[in-house]
Order: sequence, then C-alpha cells, then structure tokens
Amino acid sequence: MRAAGAINAATFERLAEAIKPGVTTAELDDIAARFIRQNNAICSFWHYNGYPGHICTSVNGQVVHGIPSKKVELREGDIVSVDIGVFYRGYHSDSAKTFPVGKISTEAETLIRVTEESFYEGLKMARMGNRLQDIGAAIQNHVEQNGFSVVRSLVGHGVGSELHEDPEVPNFGTAGRGARLLPGMTLAIEPMVNQGTYHVNTLADQWTVVTADGKLSAHYEHTILVRDGEAEILTRC
Ligand code: MF3
Ligand code: CO
Repeated sequence: MRAAGAINAATFERLAEAIKPGVTTAELDDIAARFIRQNNAICSFWHYNGYPGHICTSVNGQVVHGIPSKKVELREGDIVSVDIGVFYRGYHSDSAKTFPVGKISTEAETLIRVTEESFYEGLKMARMGNRLQDIGAAIQNHVEQNGFSVVRSLVGHGVGSELHEDPEVPNFGTAGRGARLLPGMTLAIEPMVNQGTYHVNTLADQWTVVTADGKLSAHYEHTILVRDGEAEILTRC
C-alpha cells in the first residue's frame, strides 16, 4: 500500500504542473492515466461500478465524482478537486486534493486551507486506543468553527485489497463513540467541505455530486496507516 501510495502522490505532482487555465479535465484524466500506467499500476476508479473516468475531477460546486470531460475547460478563478485511486500489486491507495486554477478568491483559498487543516485534525485522532468517531468529531469541529459545513451523505472508508472496505469513516460524529482503532488498520480519511449547506445532490449522469446551493466545495484525502502513536500517511512520495 505504501508503494501504491507513492505512485498516487507522484501522480498529484505531475498533475499540479498541468492544472492551469485552458486545460480540460479530460486532459488531466489522460495525463494521470498515462502516468499511472507508466508506473505499472492501474487506476482504481476506472470502471469501478461502471465509472467512466480514470480519476475524478470536480469543479467549483461539484463535491466529488466529477467525470473528466473534453467540454470542461478550467478557467482562472476555478477550484478543482482531483481524486485519484492507484492499484498496485494487489492493493489500493486513495487520495484527493483541491487545486486553485490561477488566481482564486480569498474565500475559495480559505475553504481549501480549512479543508486540508480539518484532515490533519482528524489524522491526529487516528491512533491506537482512540475510537472511530474521534476522527470525524475533530474534522467537524474544525470545519464548523471556520463557518463551513461537512458533507454527511459521503464518508471516508477502509482501504486495502478493495478500494472501499469497512469501516465507514464519517467526517462528523461524537468523540468517544464508534469502533476502537487498532494498529495496522488502513483508512481513507476524506473530508468534503462546503461553503454553504452540507446538503448535496447527484446529477443525471449518476455520478457527479454537487452542492445543493451551488456554492463551492473542497476535498482532501489521504490513505493512512493507524499505529500505536502517530498515524503514517501512505499517499506520500
Ligand atoms: N475516492 C472516491 C471515494 O472514495 C472513489 C471514487 S470511485 C469512482 O469515494 F468510481 F467514483 F471513481
Ligand atoms: Co476515498
């Protein structure tokens, strides 16, 4: 999983150079797919439950599972959430990050920053002896203190030989509740944070999840390893 995670992280580095005004999300999909293949790995999302892309690219008010398209050209001021799954030698890694396209508004910058920070607040709680909802409670607390909201209907998850495994890892909850965390558990912690309401809808394409009020949303995800002490982030170079 560490090896799958390293390829995942390197794919993000490759894409970061490509994300600029004028690029289409289909071009980003293509770059990621080629890079992952060159590393002898497979895109976890490709044909997952019929998903038609290699990665997910969700622009502005799209929360997650945006399908890359030749018709979607990124413009200055947009934000784009990129979600990548890498399958390598029998194991998956799953990671996501929201990128600014050129110069963005201060509000959008704050949303991206708070989303990343909330992941790290959750990460601190992901250690042997703590309980599952300690993670979500820490995320929710940080997000709501900053005036944003946490999506409820989509959650993080266990990850391993399958992309989605038990347990569900909500980004909200009550500290002290849920299953006990044990060393060796590998989890995808992935806060999805909205500027306005936490309510979301799914578009007619059956995949793209959008904010109910059309306001911005950001996403940040790593695959992590629970240990006795600080967790290890596996989706790093
Ligand atoms: N990273 C996404 C998640 O955990 C997986 C997307 S699956 C896809 O929800 F099929 F939409 F690609
Ligand atoms: Co995930």
